[in-house]
Amino acid sequence: MPDAPAAIEHSGSQEKPLWILTTARMAYVFGVDAHGYLQHIYWGPKLLATTDYGDAQPFGSWGHERPAGISAEEFPAWGDLNFNEPCLKATYSDGVRNALLQYDSFEIDANGLDGEQARPSLAVHLRDPHYGLRATLHYRVVPECDIIERSAVLHNESDESIRVERIFSAAWHVPPRDGYRLKTLAGKWSGEFQVQEAIVPVGKQRIESRRGLTGFNASPWFALDANGSADEQQGEVWFGTLAHSGNWAFALERTIHGQVTLSGGVNDFDFEWLLKPGERFETPTFVGGYSGAGYGRASRLLHDYQRQHVLPRAQNGSGNGDAPALRPVLYNSWYVTGFDVTLENQMRAARRAAELGVELFVVDDGWFGRRNDDRAGLGDWHVNPEKFPRGLAPLIEGINELGMGFGLWVEPEMVNPDSDLYRAHPDWVYHFPNRPRSELRSQLVLNLAREDVQAFVLGFMDELLSENKIDFIKWDMNRPFSEPGWPDAPSGRERELWVRHVRGLYRVLGELRRRHPAVAFESCASGGGRIDLGIMPFVEQFWMSDNTDAFDDLFIQEGYSMAFTLAAKMAWVTDPLALNGRVLSLAYRFHSAMTGALGIGANLFHWTDAEMAEAAAFVERYKALRPTIQLGDFYRLRSPRHSPLAAQQFVHKDGHESVVFLFLHASTFGPYRARLQLQGLEPDAFYRVDNSEPLISGRALMRRGLDVALKGDFVSQMMHIVRADDSPIAPD
Ligand code: DGJ
Repeated sequence: MPDAPAAIEHSGSQEKPLWILTTARMAYVFGVDAHGYLQHIYWGPKLLATTDYGDAQPFGSWGHERPAGISAEEFPAWGDLNFNEPCLKATYSDGVRNALLQYDSFEIDANGLDGEQARPSLAVHLRDPHYGLRATLHYRVVPECDIIERSAVLHNESDESIRVERIFSAAWHVPPRDGYRLKTLAGKWSGEFQVQEAIVPVGKQRIESRRGLTGFNASPWFALDANGSADEQQGEVWFGTLAHSGNWAFALERTIHGQVTLSGGVNDFDFEWLLKPGERFETPTFVGGYSGAGYGRASRLLHDYQRQHVLPRAQNGSGNGDAPALRPVLYNSWYVTGFDVTLENQMRAARRAAELGVELFVVDDGWFGRRNDDRAGLGDWHVNPEKFPRGLAPLIEGINELGMGFGLWVEPEMVNPDSDLYRAHPDWVYHFPNRPRSELRSQLVLNLAREDVQAFVLGFMDELLSENKIDFIKWDMNRPFSEPGWPDAPSGRERELWVRHVRGLYRVLGELRRRHPAVAFESCASGGGRIDLGIMPFVEQFWMSDNTDAFDDLFIQEGYSMAFTLAAKMAWVTDPLALNGRVLSLAYRFHSAMTGALGIGANLFHWTDAEMAEAAAFVERYKALRPTIQLGDFYRLRSPRHSPLAAQQFVHKDGHESVVFLFLHASTFGPYRARLQLQGLEPDAFYRVDNSEPLISGRALMRRGLDVALKGDFVSQMMHIVRADDSPIAPD
């Protein structure tokens, strides 16, 4: 990683300043124009001199547009002659629906720190010249990751209430070019994170979730490159992701004048926030970054950022320095026992799992209330006495004696109508009067916007974690919101529930982590339905998909890896799923699941002795390679979407070892041969590939390539590449 002299500089006058935010390789520049508006000026590679960036001129002038010029406003409000997508839309108490945000003042904190790392920040204050509304735009620079964090805070400094109908976190302007390609991630249950790409037409496009949670249908991540000119290894890529786990929206606009802007934040659909005098509203953070070396670097910058600045830090001795703790290998019997979990069958499974070297045994759904299927019991968080007559203690002790930690499944935001909780508190769910309460998976969503519901969730979770020796919580969330009514809401605050639910969730999770710092959490939402940077500070890992078909997972994890670190990706080795009915070898299933945090969810009693031995060897191998896989640099060598051979590579941060995974879909007309060009090695160092002789230079492995040959259908291979001891040591 290059030296990262981060800076926030300003030039120009106090009335018309210009700010230059720089990271290791990137500059982001904006300033105040002659009319008092903030104009975006530049986002791209660092240039030589301050004057190289230009100044805060509007983009150009044209008839039927602002006489002052067509703006690339840094944070546009819907007012006067601004027809572009706004970040702010508000109505004042006198009915005026026209917000004007003009520059007021700024502050720079050049000495901001995150741990020991420098993180300078800038706050720019904008004001409506007539009404007492102030918007403060916050910028924090993450130097070594070429990333800027942006957010906005609205302050009502007037004596009247203001109704906020849209408040986005940021607008990102990419440099005017001939055209752009947009990449996004779309999906469905069991088919998350499928990469979408399209040339951006003139016009507007909206990508969003209206489901109450992040959602599988779209992920709050984007990347843009000029007309499809970038690939994995080269080209300019502008990217961003929003840290929010509720309704979110991106509005992408390309004007006929050549401006391309992506703005986004909390979804304004069915949203309204009442800002009373003296109140403030803080948006989620929107992270944006720049890569001058293609999509591969763009992803690695995001991965580094998440590992160093977003994921929870290691709480015990197993973490290394700044990194999150290594994720343990876990076992979960959900696909085997379903809701029928008992002390006996879980202990049996645990004994078998321990033989494989599993480190964490997780009991999934079905351990509580009258939860024998998905129709009853959700919300009644007491241990089912028929399944566990002496509570969870004998199971936990048994599992601990086998040398494993203990994890437990919960779904705290939900309730089955057939539960004691719902019978006692039918008003605790989102609902409208005179409308049916639509059930999905026989359940309704608890209104976590309510403080009493937050207190209930915090209370039972705190009790569960205080009374039982639990190391890990799988926090599930299995349906979107519907009938989003909150009949008891304070007047004028009914539509705030979309944001208040998320804040309630973060509050509860934050408090649980504070009270139980040794417990690790997983965010699960019927698979990868709630994976985003908003929930990431509260969870160590994500359940990527309910689809554990190892071939399908290559596609899902490729998309996931565009935006999220594999250190947090949990996938299991399971038996064949009914979904595709595809039967894959044990090796293929392990290799696919080993490209992140590893879990096992198969019926281990169906595995022969030979398969158990093979699996144990994979687990052992995985543990040895885990620091490279979870904390190293990740390279997408070949995409399953474009090649019959999918290939992924991990390189340890200190450069001493690399792991390559190969997956051949099917060989036709004989073996599939490839000369695979590796990445991320030291050109002048020599390497051993799977202990072979002679040594091969990094330059040869990356330029000439590594010869591989695979034969058969759905075959896989793992290759271990180790730097020879006497090779030059990688510079920091
Ligand atoms: C959905 C999750 O994705 C599954 O892994 C499992 O935990 C079930 N919920 C349990 O109801």
